[in-house]
Amino acid sequence: MADLYPVPEAVSAGASGPLRTFDAYLRAAHRAGSDPSGYWLQQARERLAWRTPPTVGLQGGYHTVAGEPFTWFADGVLNVTESCLDRHLGPRGNKTAILWEGDEPGDVRTLSYAELHTEVCRTANALRHLGVGSGDRVVIYMGMVPEAAIAMLACARLGAIHSVVFGGFSAESLRDRVLDCGARVVITQDEGRRGGRPIPLKATTDEALQGLEIDQVLVYRHTGAEVGFDPERDVWWHEVVPHAGDTHRAVPMDAEDPLFILYTSGSTGKPKGLVHTTAGYLLWTSWTCETTFDLREDDVFACVADIGWITGHSYIVYGPLANGATTLMFESTPLYPDAGRYWDMVERHNITVFYTAPTAIRALAAHGSEPVERHDRSTLRVLGTVGEPINADAWRWYHDVVGEGRCTIVDTWWQTETGGHMITPIAPITATKPGSATLPLPGILPVLLDSEDRVIFGPGEGRLCIAHPWPGQARTVWGDHARYVQTYFGHFRSLYFTGDGARRDTDGYYWITGRVDDVLNISGHRMGTAEFESALNASDEVSEAAVVPFPHDVKGQGVYAYIVLQPGSDDHELQSRLNALCRERIGAHARIDALQIVPGLPKTRSGKVMRRILRKVAEGQPENLGDISTLADPSVVKAIVAGAVDTSG
Ligand code: WT7
Repeated sequence: MADLYPVPEAVSAGASGPLRTFDAYLRAAHRAGSDPSGYWLQQARERLAWRTPPTVGLQGGYHTVAGEPFTWFADGVLNVTESCLDRHLGPRGNKTAILWEGDEPGDVRTLSYAELHTEVCRTANALRHLGVGSGDRVVIYMGMVPEAAIAMLACARLGAIHSVVFGGFSAESLRDRVLDCGARVVITQDEGRRGGRPIPLKATTDEALQGLEIDQVLVYRHTGAEVGFDPERDVWWHEVVPHAGDTHRAVPMDAEDPLFILYTSGSTGKPKGLVHTTAGYLLWTSWTCETTFDLREDDVFACVADIGWITGHSYIVYGPLANGATTLMFESTPLYPDAGRYWDMVERHNITVFYTAPTAIRALAAHGSEPVERHDRSTLRVLGTVGEPINADAWRWYHDVVGEGRCTIVDTWWQTETGGHMITPIAPITATKPGSATLPLPGILPVLLDSEDRVIFGPGEGRLCIAHPWPGQARTVWGDHARYVQTYFGHFRSLYFTGDGARRDTDGYYWITGRVDDVLNISGHRMGTAEFESALNASDEVSEAAVVPFPHDVKGQGVYAYIVLQPGSDDHELQSRLNALCRERIGAHARIDALQIVPGLPKTRSGKVMRRILRKVAEGQPENLGDISTLADPSVVKAIVAGAVDTSG
């Protein structure tokens, strides 16, 4: 096979992760596949720090999900921070746990495991003093500062459920999430910083919380900017945390107690709060972080995602810390102050494992190889990608230019719902192909279904499902278990439906083709078409709106909006007005790339919008519209095709 990249010698030499040879992978896959419950029970007992080790693995299964949800390790008792902090104090007390690089290059802070432990204990004591207890929800709306990770861990220490909201979300989105999870306390900071610009986190929090009954807002001072302060409600971090006691007895939690809620977009306008558990999630992030990346004791692990997304939860905070690793937190952007920023950090911090999104790789590749080659990257061993399909050209640029052909690429496929990696190369053992997420991890049983819902055996392409629960799987949607059941198990009997399409080749390698539902993936950010549509429909100028994705060279997908104007509305600069509205209703990352005013939307006689047609036109393929005879008014199609916006460049 021409395009098969064997693992470079230097990557497999000295492997120390759980799976070091392909034979070991096959044996593990066989054991985990034939006895998942026993396999993961043993891993969980060995890998995590327990107060009471579990005696049971999986109870229940997909067949029971509509009634009693399935559980993993249900009789075990633990606190995740003891796995992430306390047990490292002896062997790794002075080892750097968090290596923080601020917005300006070289603005660095480090926290050793001992220091991080102390900060987490102090913060837990301070939160306890503010009334936060086990099971309470705490929303964290912060930028990329160490205190964001400290806040997450402090909640976990208390058994409180954190819900981190990405700092780019608008006041309205933040408010929706605070209300949905019933948070009593919000933790924020004065301002964030990104690419030399301030992000008004406290001001947005104030706007979001207007009129809500929130007990307390804990505010970390980062930039020192003047911000509004409500003495009845707001508490400065620096006035309470440093004075709180520096030891704290972690609250013992049941294995299945929720660790956090993380909101993600689906096919409706309302985001869903996926609930991850204490033990199953921690096992999955810990085991996948070590296995996939072959994480080694002296690695400097750099996942440059934001902690507001699942990647940051799993591979900046919980996975690396559970393994006692040094984890980087990066406040800035790949292009600030220039396109060499990542590689400058690799050189200065001796980064060995680097994990980013295809969008960033494509954006950087557009700047050529000079900004990369200016920096010494000889410490790199493993390069990871996540969040969206990576095209072969971007993959090769990452491999050849960034990695100088010496590193292996791990294209990790997973989702907010899966907690951690599912289909991915294992760094020291899996030969790679550009654009393929390669093989499932042990215990992960992918199933492809064809358009008639039949299981595909051997090579083929279809909708990607998973046949058996794994410990890191989200157990429910907060406050709406019926929606969880409907979204993930309502399509096919006893299978978890991922929402993605995939192809399996003759070697059994998987190629993720992207979402097959109404979820958009813009620069690795997940948004629903329905979220955009409800934002657009809020405009007085819009009578109807439909949003579809189109292929975008850098962002992976772009957003194409079809708008039916209200009679008498003027389309002058409409796109910028509608973008301002999307920003206000959703967040800074929600932008329309192409806008077309249409006389009507293509609807069936029952009033359903035929998105297939809109997608084809947005993709620049109006010749392949398929059957349009069922439309109520086929003439709108002509107008839509004639007025299509060129998205090819
Ligand atoms: C969706 C999940 C996984 C953490 C970040 C995104 C897409 C993710 C890959 C990959 C192709 C990928 C899928 C998935 N996706 N990784 N390696 N190759 N597509 O998490 O926001 O929950 O989005 O991202 O479409 O369903 P998320």
